[in-house]
Amino acid sequence: MKSIIELIEDKRDAREHTAEDIERLVSAYVGSQMPDYQMAAWLMAAFLNGLSSAETAWLTRSMAGSGRMVDLSSVPGIILDKHSTGGVGDKTTLVLAPLVASCGVPVAKMSGRGLGHTGGTLDKLESIPGFCVTLAYDALLRQLLDVGVVVTAQSADVDPADKKMYALRDVTGTVQSIPLIVGSIISKKVAGGADAIVLDVKVGSGAFMKTEAQARALAHELQRVGELLGKKVVCVMTDMSQPLGRAVGNSLEVCEAIRTLKGEGPRDLTELCLALGAKMLVLGEAAQDERIGRQLLLDSIAEGRALATFRAWVSAQGGDPRVADDPSLLPVAGFATVVTAPRGGFVTGFDAEGVGRSAMLLGAGRQTKDAGIDLGAGLVLEAKIGDAIDAEAPLATLYASDPELFDAAREKLLASVEIGDGPAEEPVLFHEV
Ligand code: URA
Repeated sequence: MKSIIELIEDKRDAREHTAEDIERLVSAYVGSQMPDYQMAAWLMAAFLNGLSSAETAWLTRSMAGSGRMVDLSSVPGIILDKHSTGGVGDKTTLVLAPLVASCGVPVAKMSGRGLGHTGGTLDKLESIPGFCVTLAYDALLRQLLDVGVVVTAQSADVDPADKKMYALRDVTGTVQSIPLIVGSIISKKVAGGADAIVLDVKVGSGAFMKTEAQARALAHELQRVGELLGKKVVCVMTDMSQPLGRAVGNSLEVCEAIRTLKGEGPRDLTELCLALGAKMLVLGEAAQDERIGRQLLLDSIAEGRALATFRAWVSAQGGDPRVADDPSLLPVAGFATVVTAPRGGFVTGFDAEGVGRSAMLLGAGRQTKDAGIDLGAGLVLEAKIGDAIDAEAPLATLYASDPELFDAAREKLLASVEIGDGPAEEPVLFHEV
């Protein structure tokens, strides 16, 4: 058997590992026989020299098997999961999970927290007073049977390899590697127990993958490895050249998600949820095709079933379901200010990552993994790409608990919005399926 040093040297010199080599690396790391500095060296070698298709699949399988595999087989039906590679203002899960469940397809999802400029579903959910994101296994199963939707934090014993490796990648400049992202995402999905997954690969200035070619390569690998490991997978590439919807920040995004469940949400968010939801209903065999699926979703919104499922879900996880009818129960930062357009014209583009960083400066995101977060802080855009805007007209409203945070956030936001003379086309939401 090769030593850990020999395995690092193999990858440094771009030699291919065997399945046993990779299993040894993962189990040694999870079992603490391989210190962080050795895994960091291997991750950088893998980042620089890449992993073959076979190595990526072996890595994913070893990571998924590094802890407990959640068994949802006692829940009838095809259980769906959905994952986005991360973006700015992406509150899709808050809408999709209850919406799809309200049409009879159970949704079980393990979510993460925000890091850097991208927000995390768990933080958004925790802005609902009382909402608890940690559930014991039997409570999770009961809720999936009774309510049809459960969104939790990944428990410590599920995919511990990803937890340790992701934290290390985050501080060693090794996040943006396709094989490592595939291992991280698919291993979590395999360990999480759902039967079928819709993967939303974000493309553009607010995404990890900035170009269409990178996003396409990631999407193909996610689908290939997911299917190889026994999951039904649909992968879509969607726009992240501007924030999704208008709200960026935890409770502000919950508020926008609730409006979307009532049929009053922003167009791009609503369209994305209907399109992804229709695919989920087809995968879950609740609709014969996407056209029928879309109609089922629209009916559920119009008849109030989507919102009723949201209330039931929030209540089951200890949250106050009255937020669905009274958004003033959500936390809002105590100070607000309006940022106005420096000139008239048309909004022609965003640096979406910059908008996310502006929300972070207001307190809505973390600079480090353990930093605190202001659940009521963030911003709401008053204009998006294609909109005409007058000089001095509102561009965004900023919310913070400390007015001293406004100057830096305003500056960041203004640097992230392009205003031009001619009208710009709205970005295409779906790049590829
Ligand atoms: N999201 C994940 O879960 N893992 C990655 O590596 C990148 C994005």
